[in-house]
Amino acid sequence: MDYRLFFSATKRNRNPIREILTKNLPEKGTVLEIASGSGEHAVFFQKCFPGNVWQSSDPDHSHRRSIHSWINYEGLLEKMPLPIDLDVEKDPWPLPISILDNLCAIVCINMLHVAPWSATQSLFNGALNTLKGNSPLIIYGPFKNNGQHISQSNEVFDKSLKEINSSWGLKNLQDVNQLAEEFHIGINKIIEMPANNLVLIYTKL
Ligand SMILES: C[S@@+](CC[C@H](N)C(=O)[O-])C[C@H]1O[C@@H](n2cnc3c(N)ncnc32)[C@H](O)[C@@H]1O
Repeated sequence: MDYRLFFSATKRNRNPIREILTKNLPEKGTVLEIASGSGEHAVFFQKCFPGNVWQSSDPDHSHRRSIHSWINYEGLLEKMPLPIDLDVEKDPWPLPISILDNLCAIVCINMLHVAPWSATQSLFNGALNTLKGNSPLIIYGPFKNNGQHISQSNEVFDKSLKEINSSWGLKNLQDVNQLAEEFHIGINKIIEMPANNLVLIYTKL
């Protein structure tokens, strides 16, 4: 059965994100993707970065089924592991030693705004517990800056998210960076991306 899901933003943002990853991912090792969603990014990035193993994950069963379908569809079953059932808020993360030993980066695209603040806390806690040395945590998504929306479209988007779930919504960049520091993780780079998004690159302090 073909269970592939198609998330509309992935085709638009995958190339700009690829450019950032090209400059910031270690050439070898396992990349853990948090909140892989449909899996479209996972298979795309696995093909872009053949020196890495792209380990996808998502807590949603239908998303993991889609990721599996995408891996199969792209003929990557030999190269890529199947997605892990990983909810950042469930501590500790269910990662086998084989992944932990080779982990070279964590990538999280478009999750923080569709989750409560506790998920951001848990993401940093998980990164602190799993990343070694200078391995980066790379986050992509829309953020507020100094408590303000940086575009009207972000403001409208934020409102629509809060209507779905009052604990969702765009997080404030400075609050996220301050939270990271509480987990002994520092911000290294803030990169402006198309459509009022940011890439945030963190490493352990
Ligand atoms: C907007 S989608 C983004 C999916 C994909 N990264 C993309 O950019 O297309 C948000 C994803 O976050 C996942 N998610 C929500 N809460 C989560 C949590 N606590 N831990 C891990 N993933 C979570 C959802 O299951 C969903 O797949």
